[in-house]
Amino acid sequence: EEAHAAENERTFIAIKPDRIAEIISRFERKGFKLVAIKIMVPSKEFAQKHYHDLKDRPFFNGLCGFLSSGPVIAMGFIKYGRKLIGATDPQRSEPGTIRGDLAVVVGRNIIHGSDGPETAKDEINLWFKPQELVNYRSNAEKWIY
Ligand code: PPS
Repeated sequence: EEAHAAENERTFIAIKPDRIAEIISRFERKGFKLVAIKIMVPSKEFAQKHYHDLKDRPFFNGLCGFLSSGPVIAMGFIKYGRKLIGATDPQRSEPGTIRGDLAVVVGRNIIHGSDGPETAKDEINLWFKPQELVNYRSNAEKWIY
């Protein structure tokens, strides 16, 4: 029961398009199921909604500016996990994690991942309409496992 619930937990991911294939591939290899994806340029106001929890931080304005500075690939996955992404500060994230391997400075760390299943729900609702979420049994689930 518990394992089942954990498997159905969701993650919201936002990335800059530079390394899109590699980043999606890392989630796919780890068995995350992609249930929503789109590309958009978020407005500054949208970015402020997304980062509303951080509005009192000194870097809030810069962080929102960065998110809205160009195209973002927004994704919803089933399966929750933070390990693949790595620590916030790329100087501290382990090699083998996405930030550890691909990012250089905090605040420009190429990937945002929701920090918990509850936040993931809110973020998926902010970025996607209900009809943009697709649930399905993947071929891997049907044929391989
Ligand atoms: S905290 O302190 O625990 O709330 O921070 P954390 O959860 O690790 O990070 C929240 C987001 O804030 C970004 N961040 C920063 N941006 C710019 N400058 C500095 N110093 C900084 N510190 C944290 C961090 O990248 C997180 O954004 P996302 O989009 O999740 O990467």
